[in-house]
Amino acid sequence: MTVLVTGSAGFIGAATARALLERGQEVIGIDNLNHYYDPALKRARLDNLGRQFGNRFGFEQVDFADADALNRLGDDHRFDGIVHLGAQAGVRYSIEHPAAYVQSNLVGHCNMLELARQRGTRHMVYASSSSVYGSNKSLPFRVEDRVDHPLSMYAATKKADELLSESYSSLYKVPLTGLRFFTVYGPWGRPDMAMWIFTKALFAGEPLPLFNRGEMRRDFTYIDDIVRGIVACLDSPPADDGSLKAGGSTSPHALYNIGNNRSEDLMRVVELLEQATGKKALLSPEPMQPGDVKETFADISAIEHDHGFKPTTSIDEGVPKFVAWYRDYHKV
Ligand SMILES: NC(=O)c1ccc[n+]([C@@H]2O[C@H](COP(=O)([O-])OP(=O)(O)OC[C@H]3O[C@@H](n4cnc5c(N)ncnc54)[C@H](O)[C@@H]3O)[C@@H](O)[C@H]2O)c1
Repeated sequence: MTVLVTGSAGFIGAATARALLERGQEVIGIDNLNHYYDPALKRARLDNLGRQFGNRFGFEQVDFADADALNRLGDDHRFDGIVHLGAQAGVRYSIEHPAAYVQSNLVGHCNMLELARQRGTRHMVYASSSSVYGSNKSLPFRVEDRVDHPLSMYAATKKADELLSESYSSLYKVPLTGLRFFTVYGPWGRPDMAMWIFTKALFAGEPLPLFNRGEMRRDFTYIDDIVRGIVACLDSPPADDGSLKAGGSTSPHALYNIGNNRSEDLMRVVELLEQATGKKALLSPEPMQPGDVKETFADISAIEHDHGFKPTTSIDEGVPKFVAWYRDYHKV
């Protein structure tokens, strides 16, 4: 089975492409290699895949907000499944740059749904986000919870993606699975995320910006666990049998939280980073950032029940693995 992976130069996209290639599948990756963060990191991820898997991994620089470009891609390649992980990510950036989210996450998501419909794709798994829960007070967050009060444009576009997906699944019976990711971290991670920013500051001897004075809790999920969950979902499209799916649809559309099912104190992560880097952190307490949420915590019972998903990597194990990779990549 050939799989189209969008955002294949990104953190989760490259790791997912690798897992599919490792089990012998062919992967077509697309990405527009935008400059939201250093494209050299994106190219390095792609180079690794190309080196290791040769022409079983095909890459094309395509913007999925461009419907014509996607049509040409569909004419040139056959694929049975889609893992749609490309997006404009980041809560803080969305406050200043809302248009980028409309383009990639709304126009782009519609285009991907249309591609899946027109090409009769067996199943499309797509990325949503824990940010859709906004400031929901009831923890852990459950897929059945109402999510009508997004705190950022990023969260609003991810929620909109879920709604657009539901209509495609209901009208055209396109099998879809949406995954609400909870703070993913690990080797080849994202430079705009706290764990990377803190590690960089530790090695540079600079203060760590602690939003909400460090009083934050996150359900941190290790990349290998996330990838296992994505692949397990891809293998089992939701049935078009009218039965109730996780998230409440009776169409072939399931929605899952995918997290570690543990809400960790941010300061615990700082401690683990100090141990792994051998550096003492200088702390810079900052106010809460607009759009940010204080706590996330995933109820993962639905994905556990339907796909046997069980995260196995604690932050005690995962943080040192990230730091080891960071040292190697940056030669620090
Ligand atoms: N990493 C996390 O903690 C996290 C948490 C919640 C949700 N997510 C979601 O998971 C998905 C993957 O996230 P990631 O951490 O790998 O982010 P990432 O930024 O590393 O990867 C996204 C990739 O998509 C590409 N892209 C963006 N717009 C595009 C467009 N219009 N056309 C083609 N390519 C485009 C980017 O160049 C980038 O390489 C995203 O949808 C993100 O919103 C991630």
